[in-house]
Amino acid sequence: MAEVVIVESAAAAGELVAEEIARLIARRSDAVLGLATGSTPLPVYAALRNRLAGADLSHVRGFALDEYVGIDPAHPESYRSVITREVVEPLGLNPALVHVPDGAEDGIEHAGAEYDAKIRAAGGVDLQILGIGTDGHIGFNEPGSSFASRTRVKTLTAQTREDNARFFDSIDQVPMHCITQGLGTILEARHLVLLAYGEGKADAVAAAVEGPLTAFVPGSAIQLHPHATVVVDEAAASKLRLADYYRYTFENKPAWQGI
Ligand code: PGA
Repeated sequence: MAEVVIVESAAAAGELVAEEIARLIARRSDAVLGLATGSTPLPVYAALRNRLAGADLSHVRGFALDEYVGIDPAHPESYRSVITREVVEPLGLNPALVHVPDGAEDGIEHAGAEYDAKIRAAGGVDLQILGIGTDGHIGFNEPGSSFASRTRVKTLTAQTREDNARFFDSIDQVPMHCITQGLGTILEARHLVLLAYGEGKADAVAAAVEGPLTAFVPGSAIQLHPHATVVVDEAAASKLRLADYYRYTFENKPAWQGI
């Protein structure tokens, strides 16, 4: 099962994961990071900015999880723009080494396979950051997504469009389709780190971590991964049956293991 780490705040989650990423980059200056968008990873990126200020990160490579289909890449809420603004610029990454799925409608039928080929050519993702949707999605793999799925076009659920409407002027502007790494693609990363905060994520976290493996809860795919870490605050952990056990094992974990 995934290792669950319960921390006191989103900021503490960000620090913990940033520390692990810094260790990875210290080992491999050209580490391949799997980058997520949405609110969840922001504390990780903020902590990385502080921790790695002044470090040379120009060899670090990155692959975003997903992109909206048909959005202008220059739109401030395209995931290309978000990754540039939140990750590439503040950390001083080389933009040429940071990839986002191509959401252009022209050629979209081949864009998924091309993206998977790029990830493979880079040697795979070392550490994949993940958020989880209130419906259990990871990336934009909505309920029903095959555990074997590859990067492809998906239709966003009404709930996800509502959840993401806060980034747009109105829900009508939220694209209907996305291109997302598949669950099978995500499972090939060497380390999965899923973060969640707040009571609104408690059901999705419990279902992903302790529920049955089911395509109905795409996040439950992490149970198939040999190195998956779930970092949650107390509120997001509030529905975990084995919360005390997770606290006990983490408190007694040898420090050299990291997460
Ligand atoms: P959020 O979204 O980080 O904005 O809560 C998570 C997700 O939908 O994967």
